[in-house]
Amino acid sequence: MAAVKTQVGIIGGGPSGLLLSQLLHLNGIDNIVLEKHSREYVLGRIRAGVLEHGFAKLMREADCGDRMDTEGEVHDGFFIAYNGKKNRVDLKGLTGGSSVVVYGQTELTRDLYDARAKLGGVVVHLAEDVQPHDITSKTPYLTYVKDGKKCRVDCDFIIGADGFHGISRKSIPADKIRLYERSYPFGWLGVLSNTKPVSPELIYASHARGFALCSLRSQFLSRYYIQVPIEQNASDWSDDAFWAELKLRLPNDVVAHLETGPSIEKSVAPLRSFVAEPMRYGNMFLAGDAAHIVPPTGARGLNSAASDIYYLYHALMDHYRNGDDAGLREYSQKALARVWKGQRFSWWMTTLLHRFPDNSVFDNRLQQTELDYLFSSEKALAALAENYVGLPF
Ligand code: FAD
Ligand code: DHB
Repeated sequence: MAAVKTQVGIIGGGPSGLLLSQLLHLNGIDNIVLEKHSREYVLGRIRAGVLEHGFAKLMREADCGDRMDTEGEVHDGFFIAYNGKKNRVDLKGLTGGSSVVVYGQTELTRDLYDARAKLGGVVVHLAEDVQPHDITSKTPYLTYVKDGKKCRVDCDFIIGADGFHGISRKSIPADKIRLYERSYPFGWLGVLSNTKPVSPELIYASHARGFALCSLRSQFLSRYYIQVPIEQNASDWSDDAFWAELKLRLPNDVVAHLETGPSIEKSVAPLRSFVAEPMRYGNMFLAGDAAHIVPPTGARGLNSAASDIYYLYHALMDHYRNGDDAGLREYSQKALARVWKGQRFSWWMTTLLHRFPDNSVFDNRLQQTELDYLFSSEKALAALAENYVGLPF
């Protein structure tokens, strides 16, 4: 079996794994990333669009911020529409100067791949049957199969950055991990289209027919979502049916400017809240979607992954540079404190804006009252804004 030695073995070449790999490499810490899929497959998944400013800063620290800073858009606010009217959330004004960056996860991942290649970083694609071994020992290792050959990576630490369906969390014995979960009876049907976005700033819409979101990737590329029952598939929806339903859920003055066109991607994402505690088992550390998932409403998922990476990167630097393991010992606790706040905010935004099939008329009135309260109280809006732009790391 071919064997190599590295300091940090990373499972998963999504944004979490790649960002950590890049930051460690820049600081002289050797690492290898094992990714199950091809680069093209990973880049074909259309996911997040909104980055908090702390994440954007981390991308710059990783020498990956140039294209984000030229092609990404800084957004100082967004809208919440209900009762046929748009209401603006002035992120910048409410937070004393913070904003978010609208830059797609696809482009961000492409930048990270390019940066890894430029530095000669090792990212093994199409690594099959990745398995962590001897996780609780001082000499853990990974095995995988590439082109039919079994390979081994010896390392000091394993990072499980392999997303919700990955192998790392599942390798932890059931009595050593606690799972908290809530699933929602609906998903988001997303459409990407080469059309001019209907609004320069995002519109989150609450409507009796269900939630809708108008987002964008650039001034030529729009991303729209509508809430659909969980049983439905993207193939159940023609483009025409999608646009017709979206129009029914948006205020008239928005619909008047909506440019429609063929979809270039259409998919359904289920909504789920999930946390695994603790985020460490022996010498394996979980990061990103491998440890926690949020419903996408508050745009927290990728941003929570970035805060895990921030804590892990600093903890590993302290270990290798100063022989100080306090950061590694405290990683799970520190990361989870922020993760749970992201969970709370995502659950709150989801509950505020979606139609729940089991809601009573009382529940619907409360939802309406919550929206009315929000836009009548500067303090309530400030709490929303502070969470949306991202709590401090
Ligand atoms: P992933 O992106 O899932 O990457 C994990 C990688 O590990 C994958 O490449 C996978 O192929 C690989 N892998 C899996 N199993 C194995 C294995 N056994 N061996 C090796 N490799 C493996 N977040 C936001 O912050 N803002 C948003 O606006 C936002 N919008 C979203 C919209 C949608 C529709 C969806 C679905 C998500 C959205 N998110 C958003 C969430 C965000 O996309 C995720 O939180 C983010 O992808 C997490 O990154 P990750 O690297 O931890 O996991
Ligand atoms: C997008 C996704 C989100 O979950 C969100 O809250 C805002 C924007 C997007 O894909 O553009």
